[in-house]
Amino acid sequence: MDILTVPTTPIEGQKPGTSGLRKKTRVFMEPNYLENFVQAVFDAIGGAEGKTFVVGGDGRYFNAEAIQTILRMAAANGANAAIVGRAGLLSTPAASNLIRKNATDGGLILSASHNPGGIDEDFGLKFNIPNGGPAPESITDAIYTGTLSIARYLTVESADLDLDRLGDTQLGDMQVTIVDPVADYQALMEDLFDFDAIRDLFASGFQVRFDAMHAITGPYAAAILQDALGAPDGSVMNAIPSVDFGGGHPDPNPTWAKGLMVELMSDTGPDFGAASDGDGDRNMILGRNTYVSPSDSLAVLTANAHLAPGYATGLAGVARSMPTSCAVDRVAKDLQFECFETPTGWKFFGNLLDAGRATLCGEESFGTGSDHVREKDGLWAVLLWLNILAVKRCGVSDLLQDHWQKYGRNYYSRHDFEALNKSDAEALMGRVEAALGTLPGQTIAGLVVEKADSFRYEDPIDGSVSRNQGLRIQFANGARAIFRLSGTGTDGATLRLYLETLETDPGKLDQEVQIALGPIIKAAHELSGLHSLGRSAPDVIT
Ligand code: G1P
Ligand code: ZN
Repeated sequence: MDILTVPTTPIEGQKPGTSGLRKKTRVFMEPNYLENFVQAVFDAIGGAEGKTFVVGGDGRYFNAEAIQTILRMAAANGANAAIVGRAGLLSTPAASNLIRKNATDGGLILSASHNPGGIDEDFGLKFNIPNGGPAPESITDAIYTGTLSIARYLTVESADLDLDRLGDTQLGDMQVTIVDPVADYQALMEDLFDFDAIRDLFASGFQVRFDAMHAITGPYAAAILQDALGAPDGSVMNAIPSVDFGGGHPDPNPTWAKGLMVELMSDTGPDFGAASDGDGDRNMILGRNTYVSPSDSLAVLTANAHLAPGYATGLAGVARSMPTSCAVDRVAKDLQFECFETPTGWKFFGNLLDAGRATLCGEESFGTGSDHVREKDGLWAVLLWLNILAVKRCGVSDLLQDHWQKYGRNYYSRHDFEALNKSDAEALMGRVEAALGTLPGQTIAGLVVEKADSFRYEDPIDGSVSRNQGLRIQFANGARAIFRLSGTGTDGATLRLYLETLETDPGKLDQEVQIALGPIIKAAHELSGLHSLGRSAPDVIT
């Protein structure tokens, strides 16, 4: 098969963020757009010669076409083999598992995560390294640099491969193996969790409802929850992945998983509810009449993980992103292991996981995971919850209440102010940052500031330093307010205000969250002059 060297010229703006390159689908479909980026990936990792890659995506519009292009280019660049999910499908955690399990040289994952899909929506591509995790900045920077001077890409001329047929085929000198996207992932889950116990729980009448949001976890959840664990058919809703996610927004939060919320927030609903996002790495956990905040979920899982076989010997440590609530910190202290506070973004957990310093990790943004892969993992979190409930034979609400009684409750919420004028948002951040030194000791809206700083992280494994990772204001009563600009928003700037307050009075654990946070919300607005943004209320509250 002839290798074609196709001349090309740089295209502006191909700078991958922490979750790869995300753009409108039509942009990705422009001539040479995908090709330039893929070639830059191969060039950035010292070429593809002799290497093996995992390739798959969340099934959104352009997924299958892009995979054909990537495979041709991998073959032309001398790759030895590619492992591809059937129909081009792989959830992000399943791709991470395949990369690790087969000791490959990395993977190309096609997804824009929880963003809507379709020809007029979003597409994305990211490169994961051999440990199964997102490429570090050194590699994403090299990819970007490559896109700025690219002059050629390599491809071969060939008919499209049949991605639906399991087994091996050749593309030039490259072997392509089409695998069942679910099988290896399911085997990993069976290793970690007590499937018999969960099966018994379901058989006892415990009802589960999982919303796959027309996205990638449909086939995984149907195979695991229904076929393997015996939940009745229909327990997994919106189970067939579609290229536009049924026209919805595949983001598992109370706003976008509304149908599930309505079903669960009732006295007669299922015992357990959960949802995952477009590419399967996020999760939301619900019980009957109970919403579990992602920060609480991390704390509860940390306190009880030893009940699952995969974690029976206890955890080495835990890690949470800085804006995630401090609920897990007290569990770690109680159980006497380390708790790390990292900048926002899953990649910061990678070194801690690789070094065996952290076993569980989590972010407030509906991301939870462990050292079983190097991505967050939606279904994994669901199964760990179910394993714990199966052992304890209690409901979600009981487990949460017991946890709060023992450790206290961190009331928590994130307020997002979206599509802001970039300079207004930066001005606000600049003002708060400039005032940080003067805040300690001041009383603002009745709360005394204890500490205030701009979060700086020094990686305990490789010593690398990340600065300006959010402005945090710690109050004397255990409350915190954190200001941070989103790194993933596409429209103007998004200001995230993270709020939490600790309540240890056993009689005050059932307040309405926004009411419990009232004083800290007031203090945050006052100290930052948030009204200057001209917004009367946040656009999204989670
Ligand atoms: C958001 C979340 C962050 C997550 C990232 C990728 O980033 O807040 O926790 O790691 O998406 O899923 P942000 O827009 O806040 O930069
Ligand atoms: Zn995702």
